[in-house]
Amino acid sequence: MKILITYYSGTGNTEKVANAIKDGIIGHEVDIFPVKQVDPTILKSYDMVFLGSGIYGFAINRKVTNLMKKATGLPSKFIYFYTHQSPNPWPEAFKSIESILERNKCEILGEFECCGENLKMTEEQRQTAMKNLPPEKRKEMEEHFRVVKGHPNVEDLENAKKFAQLIVNKI
Ligand SMILES: Cc1cc2nc3c(=O)[nH]c(=O)nc-3n(C[C@H](O)[C@H](O)[C@H](O)COP(=O)(O)O)c2cc1C
Repeated sequence: MKILITYYSGTGNTEKVANAIKDGIIGHEVDIFPVKQVDPTILKSYDMVFLGSGIYGFAINRKVTNLMKKATGLPSKFIYFYTHQSPNPWPEAFKSIESILERNKCEILGEFECCGENLKMTEEQRQTAMKNLPPEKRKEMEEHFRVVKGHPNVEDLENAKKFAQLIVNKI
């Protein structure tokens, strides 16, 4: 199979996951590019696309959506991956491209997500985010900021690699 891994990554977290996915795919032709380097007209030349982004303001980056909007034909198989700072995943993250995939009768074979520390968030912003919370919620958030530090970590990247292996071996 000819496989494309493409992603938007502002601070490198999602890019790490993209590279781990690549490491998990053996025996196929794999291209890996940030979305800005992908010509929308070449998407159709692939058998499968792993599409990734960080989550910014509850959604994937607009450049990922725009790539899909501009595509002239799509492969039948898509896989999503994303990183997020929140404790819980965003099941609606790729909503902006749902109708495009439906219209093109594309199948979504799976989704990988993991936490990614928000490297742009300053200590001051962290404190502001917690300032007006009741003590219990504040404690929870503080704990989450501690837990998310350093993610995606080695274990997340190993999971991403195994995820890609499973997806590709199922086909
Ligand atoms: C401007 C901005 C907005 C963000 N909004 C969200 C959000 O709505 N939900 C969330 O879980 N994480 C949010 N994050 C955290 C990122 O999703 C997370 O750190 C992710 O791993 C970044 O990936 P990247 O390094 O590939 O850009 C935001 C980060 C930035 C910089």
